[in-house]
Amino acid sequence: MEYKKVTIASEINAQNLPKHIAIIMDGNGRWAKKKGLPRIAGHWAGAEALRDIVRTCCDLNIQVLSVFAFSSENWKRPAQEVNAIMNLLLYYLKKEVDLLHENNVKINVLGAWEELPQRIVEQIKYSLKQTKNNTGLVLNIVLNYGGRQEILSACKKICADVLEGKISQDDISEEIFKNYLYTQNLPDPDLLIRPSGEIRISNFLLWQIAYTELWFTNIYWPEFKPENLMEAIRDFQKRERRFGGLKK
Ligand code: IPE
Ligand code: IPE
Ligand code: MG
Repeated sequence: MEYKKVTIASEINAQNLPKHIAIIMDGNGRWAKKKGLPRIAGHWAGAEALRDIVRTCCDLNIQVLSVFAFSSENWKRPAQEVNAIMNLLLYYLKKEVDLLHENNVKINVLGAWEELPQRIVEQIKYSLKQTKNNTGLVLNIVLNYGGRQEILSACKKICADVLEGKISQDDISEEIFKNYLYTQNLPDPDLLIRPSGEIRISNFLLWQIAYTELWFTNIYWPEFKPENLMEAIRDFQKRERRFGGLKK
């Protein structure tokens, strides 16, 4: 089954699309509370919202979509909620992988996912294997991830390589450092979207967002629609990116 095509709003300039969009999928709990539902119902609704956004990114020919699904700090939540999120992840991967595969989406998982419960690790391995040769949208599911932890682990790996003589200390550059991050050969995000009304980064892709355009909205993630993505892209296209240089 192929995704239903969305019509691309004419105000969007197809020549100036973000290559990489990152989203902090936040506000599930507050959405559920507003509806008088348990928090987990918000997480399930959030997974539904993701499906439409992935489809829209496919239609727009976006190269990379990174979605923050569970942070290293989210383990602080009650075990019951963490468990329910893990079950949802498993269900989402099982249920969505075929559809993603048919739509040429390549799944990537960023974060310390190998430390997750065994049943999830197995499903992730399967999903990665099934979609590894796909050439369409790269969907980075960011799981058990923290930006600081990622930078520290890159530092440790570089130290080990220096000690083993694989690289010399003088060779360490931004380009080399980048290869030790989960995002390795992917372009940095051009646009970062955070719904839910919080105006913060919450330890997401700290290294990679140095020059990313940030876009915030009060909408809770389960209510985030393709139109909202289009709105973010339209705003992105109005911004002037200077990267420290001067206006062209
Ligand atoms: C984001 O929604 C999902 C995860 C962090 C797993 P929240 O659960 O943080 O929802 P709010 O912020 O409490 O509304
Ligand atoms: C960030 O949201 C993590 C994810 C969306 C997965 P949080 O809800 O954990 O962030 P804080 O606690 O509001 O900063
Ligand atoms: Mg939150």
